[in-house]
Amino acid sequence: MRLFVDTANVKEIYEAAELGVVTGVTTNPSLAAKEGISDPDAYKKTVQEIAKVISGPISVEVVSTEAKDMIEEGLKIADWIDNVWVKIPSTLAGFEAIHKLSDQGINTNQTLCFSTNQAILGAQAGSTVVSPFVGRLDDIAQDGMAMVGEIVEIYRKFPTIKTQVMAASIRHPFHCHQAALMGADISTVPFGIIKKMAEHPLTDKGMELFLNDWYGSK
Ligand code: G3P
Repeated sequence: MRLFVDTANVKEIYEAAELGVVTGVTTNPSLAAKEGISDPDAYKKTVQEIAKVISGPISVEVVSTEAKDMIEEGLKIADWIDNVWVKIPSTLAGFEAIHKLSDQGINTNQTLCFSTNQAILGAQAGSTVVSPFVGRLDDIAQDGMAMVGEIVEIYRKFPTIKTQVMAASIRHPFHCHQAALMGADISTVPFGIIKKMAEHPLTDKGMELFLNDWYGSK
């Protein structure tokens, strides 16, 4: 499973890139707004900054709601950088946009996916990747990770489906562990959670012991 970092914070992305553990980035309008980005020009500038250090896919979301407008916006976004995945919501208009953008060779990320049926529709429409939102389903007492497992199982059962599965709305390190076990191709993870994935008290204690023994013996 590949790890992407889920943020529009360029500093965090540069730090994550230095670690060598992430191969892509996902953004959305909320993450952009959190960084003070509220217009297409600023979004474009930030995405182009990100592309200087991340050569893998960078997801950028449309804010249009009608198919025609999503397609127009998606085509503009696709011009910003080479490695963009245009994020399109899981609505009927969104499926039409995914279909028409993918027909023009544009990579798409089917976002806001909350059901296996939505993932089936996105794959038919030709999405490059689907983003099942695990944490937000957990929030309403549904099993987000079970949805990831079902989507992976169905996509693998039908080899003509080329759509990848990216676990999204990841809230804690155990979500990453579970997504990998479910066979997700990618998990997109906030940087704080990536850092937590590295933590283990026995690693800290072990280092302390090794260093005490080493320096204590001098
Ligand atoms: O990748 C989608 C993600 O950013 C949504 O996460 O925590 O807002 O549900 P969250």
